[in-house]
Order: sequence, then structure tokens, then C-alpha cells
Amino acid sequence: MVKKKKILFFSDFGVDDMVAGLFSFYSKELELVGVVADYGNISKEDALRNVEFFKKLTGIYDIPVFGGAEIPLTGDLPTYYPEIHGPSGLGPIIPEFYSNGTLENFNNINDLIKKYENEIIIFSAGRLTSLATMFILYPEMMKKVKDIYLMGGAFLTAGNVTPVAEANFFSDPYATNLVMQLSPKKIHIVPLDVTKEAILTPDFVNKLNEHYLKTNDKVGQVIKPMIDFYYKFYKKMNPNLIGSPIHDLLAMWAVSEQSNMEYIEVPVKISVEKGASFGQSMADFRTTIMKAPWPVHRIAYQFDYSLFINQIYTILTSKIERG
Ligand code: RIB
Ligand code: CA
Repeated sequence: MVKKKKILFFSDFGVDDMVAGLFSFYSKELELVGVVADYGNISKEDALRNVEFFKKLTGIYDIPVFGGAEIPLTGDLPTYYPEIHGPSGLGPIIPEFYSNGTLENFNNINDLIKKYENEIIIFSAGRLTSLATMFILYPEMMKKVKDIYLMGGAFLTAGNVTPVAEANFFSDPYATNLVMQLSPKKIHIVPLDVTKEAILTPDFVNKLNEHYLKTNDKVGQVIKPMIDFYYKFYKKMNPNLIGSPIHDLLAMWAVSEQSNMEYIEVPVKISVEKGASFGQSMADFRTTIMKAPWPVHRIAYQFDYSLFINQIYTILTSKIERG
């Protein structure tokens, strides 16, 4: 049997995060071994409630859940996005009240990293505050992480929260720079440049839902109401859109072996200048050998959309296997 990739999922549990989590659930190649719930699209409290919902829905009760950051390092209070992700982050779905009886201490993430030493992959789909904290507090432990993948940034494309900045990086650019500086491994950054192309059309979502209705798959049946809600916002913002970009799903797909995501290795920095450029992601794409002295990471710049769509459909409609 193929050894599954062990994923520690840092997330702000909105719609696209949840679809990425469900993708890992259906995938035979990926295995969630832990979750860190952070503020971002919604509050940390709502994120924790959504993780509980995910666990109940999927029946995965045995993964540790860590409470992450509630606020960024910027000194500002977070802004949430109910108009995009719904009042509790899952479109029209409102999970039941949550009790944090099984919540793990943040520092127990170390035990998880130790357990899966040189095997664990960090996948971050939200703000970078908690991940930066791990690097600040436990730099030695972070050397035992195999890889880091994250959704964030807008390098050669427009931003989504300001004209130049993407939401995950903009909300805590200090944390993002710390992660970039302190990571001993080159990070796989999956930015808006590619995720804005990861469009799921209503036809695709309907086809997926028909499958879930036919097979009485209650897990998959949550996808359509969430994406329909999310799509309404995108369509209102840009009536020309033929579907909605499921950012975190593309980034999770990039972790899988079958994806053909292409990366370029370049120096990366996030602007912390107060003003119009705050949170902007910059990279040195010059061909000169005299590059900016910033940490070098891998930025995703291209993928095969048809391959993505076909694989997503195949995996999301495959039989669930655990263990
Ligand atoms: O900019 C898109 C990103 O911000 C996604 O991860 C979305 O879930 C939000 O966190
Ligand atoms: Ca997210």
C-alpha cells in the first residue's frame, strides 16, 4: 500500500478551506494528521466550530485539533468576510454549538511533528500568524518538517483584498515575512496568480452533487450549498465570472503527487510599508544573477486546468478509504 502524505492543516476554515479539507478526506494519497484553527475568513472560535463540524461529518474523530491565533501581529483586530464565506464560514450551513473539550494545547504541535519527523507536511490555507509563532518558539522542531505548502500572495496579478495584496498575506504580512525568513526549506507558495484560475463552474458542482445524491454520500452533499453561496459573491463582484475560484483546493491539489503544478524559485518579500502597498507580495523575477537578498522560495505559476478538473472530479467521487 502507498504511504500517505501526512498533512498538518493550518486554516481559517471558510468555504474553500473546507473543500480543500474534504479533498484530503477523499484522497487516497493524503492523510490529515492534525488541524490548527485560526482567525481569518471567520473568528478563531468559528473556525474551531467548523473543524468540529468537519470531524462529525467525516467521522474522523482521531485527529488532534489545535487552537491557533486569534489576532495578527499587525496590532490590528482582524476583519472577517461573512459576505464571501457565510455567517459562520460555511456558506448557508450553520454548525451546532461547539464545546472545546478536546482542544489540544498549541505547543502539543511539537509532539505531532516529532511523531511524523521528516514526514509531516504543513499545509497552510489561512493567515500565517500561527505558523510564524511555531518558527519563533520552536525553530529546532520546525527543521523536522518535510515540506511547507501555502496558499497566499499575488505576485504578477492583482490582489483580492487591495489592488495589490492577497487576503492571507495582507492580514498579517509580518507573520508572512517571518515564515519566509525562518523556514529552513523552500516553501511551495500557491498564489492568486494560479488560484484565480482554479474555477469550479456551477455545472461541475451540480454534476458532483448529482453523484453524491445518487450514492447517498452525505459528506459530499455539503459541497454544493457552500460553493453556491460563495459563487454568488464572486458573481456579484464580477458578472463575467463563469464559476468561483476555489483557492485552497488548488493549493491542496498541488501537494498531491499527480498534480503538475510548475514552480519558479525566486527571492520573496512582503511589503510592510503602511500605505497602498501594505501586504503586497514581491518577488525578484529578474534574470540577473544580482538578485534581491530575500529568502528564496518556490512560487507556483502554471498548472494544467483540465488535469486539475479531471483529477478533482475523480478524487471527490472516489470511494472513501481510511487507515
Ligand atoms: O485569498 C484567498 C484566501 O483567503 C483563501 O485561503 C481564502 O480561504 C482566504 O483565507
Ligand atoms: Ca483559507
